Amino acid sequence: MARAESRYVCQSCGEAFLRWEGQCRACGGWNSLVETVVRSAGRAERARVRVTGPSDRATATPLDAIVEETVPRRPIGIGELDRVLGGGLVAGAVVLLGGEPGIGKSTLLLQATAGLVGDPGSGGALYATGEESASQVRMRAARLGLLDGELGGRIRILAENDIDRVVEAARAEPPAVLVVDSVQTAMVADLDGAPGSVGQVREATLRLMAFAKGEGIAVILAGHVTKDGSIAGPKTLEHLVDAVLSLEGERTSTLRLLRATKNRFGSTDEVGVFEMRERGLAEVTDPARAFLADHDEPAPGSVIAPTLEGSRPLLVEVQALVAAARYGSPTRRASGVDPNRLSLLLAVLGRRAGVGLSGHDVYANLAGGLTVVEPGLDLPLALALASSLRDRPVSTGLVAIGEVGLLGELRSVPGLDRRLREAARLGFGRAIVPRAAPGPRAAAPAGIEVVAVATLAEAIRAALGAGSPGRGEPVPAMLG
Ligand code: TYD
Ligand code: MG
Repeated sequence: MARAESRYVCQSCGEAFLRWEGQCRACGGWNSLVETVVRSAGRAERARVRVTGPSDRATATPLDAIVEETVPRRPIGIGELDRVLGGGLVAGAVVLLGGEPGIGKSTLLLQATAGLVGDPGSGGALYATGEESASQVRMRAARLGLLDGELGGRIRILAENDIDRVVEAARAEPPAVLVVDSVQTAMVADLDGAPGSVGQVREATLRLMAFAKGEGIAVILAGHVTKDGSIAGPKTLEHLVDAVLSLEGERTSTLRLLRATKNRFGSTDEVGVFEMRERGLAEVTDPARAFLADHDEPAPGSVIAPTLEGSRPLLVEVQALVAAARYGSPTRRASGVDPNRLSLLLAVLGRRAGVGLSGHDVYANLAGGLTVVEPGLDLPLALALASSLRDRPVSTGLVAIGEVGLLGELRSVPGLDRRLREAARLGFGRAIVPRAAPGPRAAAPAGIEVVAVATLAEAIRAALGAGSPGRGEPVPAMLG
């Protein structure tokens, strides 16, 4: 087969060049040229379709005459994964599973493959790996207990990173699912770029998409994410595929959270919770308290927040530590919480609640390696900071939730009743929440005392009692 031609195409203006250049000569954009295979046949085919006469004219359908499509899904049999996918894997769908190296992507994919081909009538699976050798995959399978039954015969392993050869193998013996681990090691021979380059990753994905759609076979791709959380390679990858799942957690902790950041066939609200065990990822089916750290004594700087991930309430522990800064400008470190919210809260605490922290090093963190971005985390984080500064714990059995505004006012969060019910179920007896707007309000769930407050200062008094603000801490006249 003749080698296809490649061009460097500008991703912002579409102009094509023969050689790579740092700046696009047409639009002036920097680093926007991506090596792309030229498909001249595609254009000719499109032209042919277009001249086929008036019977082929595009017709629009009235809204009420459109029949609802039901997409055929195949449940994987791992409840937490099926939940995030929206009930199972859709035939012909391309799913990208992102996560930091070592987080458990290959493990989850092998377990998912086993789940999909679990019963004998379901056909086989093809697991292509460019990351590991076939015997390394076998070792993992043995660890996961997948070699105990007949499963081993239904999962074929292909240690190959040339996508055309992977697709060829899949066409020769069509599997129920094709797994490609990982998209960064995948490459096509028509491009010069190294595996993992934007052009290679994009073209490999396009070819896998063409295969998936053409044959109606689901394809799952593993993808590494960089430190800043984006999937390495082009952003366009996320636009191409049908669903993007991300596996999160800390390598030092065993808990893993699976989220859908995009899902054409389901909601992006659901999260799945897993625990990495000796024999693979195990489902955590009652995750509400999974992310709470264990300590019997109430600790200063720790506040429990009833968060809501999609439809699922999760209780998380917000931890803060403040210490007088020694040298230079004070340190601010946030992990699992938004650093911008942290800076904002520090300013609001200083100006509106008398908790001055401008001369302190500040560390904020969520227990269990979780990342939560919802604004409702403001109040528990602010309380944890105040609690750490005063070295006084909040009472055991207390939860807090609410968004903090620039004026120190508290704003409500969605799904408050659900969060409070879950907190009550887990034995929490008191909740500090934003005072709701005037109007009818649902009764507080049984077993939990709800303290509704209007401002951050009130919330701090309710959580820590009255006291000198910031224990001898001068309230700064101005914050930078
Ligand atoms: P892996 O799936 O290889 O991660 P990724 O593909 O995202 O890079 O998982 C790597 C880690 O998981 C490794 O540190 C070992 C651990 N692990 C377990 O704890 N239990 C298991 O059963 C398996 C297979 C792996
Ligand atoms: Mg891997």
